[in-house]
Amino acid sequence: MKIFVQTYGCQMNKLDTNLVVNSFLQAGFELTEQVGQADVVLINTCSVRNHAEERVLSLLGHLKHIKKTRPNIIVAVFGCMAQRLKDDLLSREAVNIVCGPLQIPELVNLVNNAVGSIQKQSDTSGDIRQKPSQEQLQELDNFEQMYDSAENNLPAQAYVRVMHGCDKFCSYCVVPYVRGPEVSRAPEKIIAQIKKLAETGVKQVTLLGQTVNSYCYNGFSFADLLYEISKINGIEWIKFVTCYPKDFDERIFKTMADLPKICRYLHIPAQSGSDKILKAMNRHYTSSEYLDLLQKARQIVPDIVIAGDFIVGFPGETEEDFQKSVELIKMTQYKNCFIFKYSPRPGTKADDKLSDNIPMEVKKQRNTELLAIQEKISAEINKSFIGKTVKVLVEGTSKKSHLDETGKKEYPQLIGRTAGDYIVVFNGSADLAGRFVKVQIDRASALTLFGAMV
Ligand code: 5AD
Ligand code: SF4
Repeated sequence: MKIFVQTYGCQMNKLDTNLVVNSFLQAGFELTEQVGQADVVLINTCSVRNHAEERVLSLLGHLKHIKKTRPNIIVAVFGCMAQRLKDDLLSREAVNIVCGPLQIPELVNLVNNAVGSIQKQSDTSGDIRQKPSQEQLQELDNFEQMYDSAENNLPAQAYVRVMHGCDKFCSYCVVPYVRGPEVSRAPEKIIAQIKKLAETGVKQVTLLGQTVNSYCYNGFSFADLLYEISKINGIEWIKFVTCYPKDFDERIFKTMADLPKICRYLHIPAQSGSDKILKAMNRHYTSSEYLDLLQKARQIVPDIVIAGDFIVGFPGETEEDFQKSVELIKMTQYKNCFIFKYSPRPGTKADDKLSDNIPMEVKKQRNTELLAIQEKISAEINKSFIGKTVKVLVEGTSKKSHLDETGKKEYPQLIGRTAGDYIVVFNGSADLAGRFVKVQIDRASALTLFGAMV
């Protein structure tokens, strides 16, 4: 039987998809890239903004159509939206299976049960805020150990989860209600997993958690974990996302300064520059505390690269509040920054207590304004790379063609990333994917560095 997979959302979802796909391959299924050839359609969903959910619903509409001529296709919806909507999703004509993010080890069984049956299948957490049982955590750990591999990922790269869930309850955010309580994984399990990955040729691991810097397992901190992972032979670059600005242990910066394998890159979302809005967002810091944190990071790790996130149009955000975000983004000098328009999420405090009172037009205009400011900053920073040589881990051939005029047409265009997460495009042999190369930068845009291999 053939499976087709579609993934929406963050890196955590990409990791879950890799695990799920590998578990299906081991169970004898084959992967197809064409939905028209699939016997089973797996959809890994995201609930963080309404738009992500709308895309899933529109895919389901399309599948309902396909099912008119091929009624035996099995459609399994898993991940955050499955946990959030449960039976509402299951009752849709196109859907056979609904499976929450903490139930993905069961997905193969659910599909096998659904084959040749008219019975719909469902497995989600009853009370998502109840801490998963030891048994369930054990099962998730085993699943991760067993099916994490570099195979369906970028060459020589792997994601490794260090924690599940989130307990921060930022007032706009659905994550605590779909991924459950924060639980750190045992360090020995994480390390065993990374050793195994390194043996199969993985050179870069990206550690994943909603708030990785809050990682703590019986007193063993995230900095401790970085030291241990750094000792693993074969692993050359260690990255991690995402960080929460509050309660940042300075030792994390020290590990970045001391250990050459820890990439000097931090993604630390600010979300807003207005203290009033930060308070309403339940973020537990002020914009000046946030700036102090960045200053401390840059003091300890002078060449550190910082990226951020902002939300515009949060309920009650006045023009004055927005200008505080403008001020903050100018002061931070991020390498890049993601800007999101506030999207009310059912079940969150912000949606329960506050009205989504900023018109879409205003959200769009604020979004465009912040993006334009960041683009200028990014372009400036990128320009400073011209003439310099950077080390990149090659991801593969570039989808877009930027460099065709260079005359080096015998080589395709490759795309790679630096330790600081800069995207670099250059010409080279496709078999360099998964290898480290040096590139001299000769041109730069706001998003990309261009150059030639040295
Ligand atoms: N609306 C808009 N953006 C959101 N984010 C999280 N929840 C929402 C929401 N309800 C953004 C935050 C977070 C990123 C992953 O998504 O900026 O850092
Ligand atoms: Fe959501 Fe806040 Fe947790 Fe990040 S820290 S996942 S924004 S609740």
